[in-house]
Amino acid sequence: MRKTNIKIIWPNNNETFVSEGDDWFSAAKEAGLEIPTGCLTGSCGACEIDVNGETVRACISDIKSNKESTLKVCLTTDPFWEN
Ligand code: FES
Repeated sequence: MRKTNIKIIWPNNNETFVSEGDDWFSAAKEAGLEIPTGCLTGSCGACEIDVNGETVRACISDIKSNKESTLKVCLTTDPFWEN
């Protein structure tokens, strides 16, 4: 059964509620954030986000719940581009 009422805690501290299978881009928009994109086919990694510590490519992933129905999202940083 499709889980609803999944809480997402975003990097800007906004909290939104989504259903399993929703897409990450709409969910981020609702929270006032924009996930960067590139290829939209899963190969470039521009849309990578961390969901509870696990890297997810937003363009090829639906929202999946966990036992707690709470997901904490961080935007990934590429250590290669940091100082
Ligand atoms: S936009 Fe390129 S992997 Fe998602």
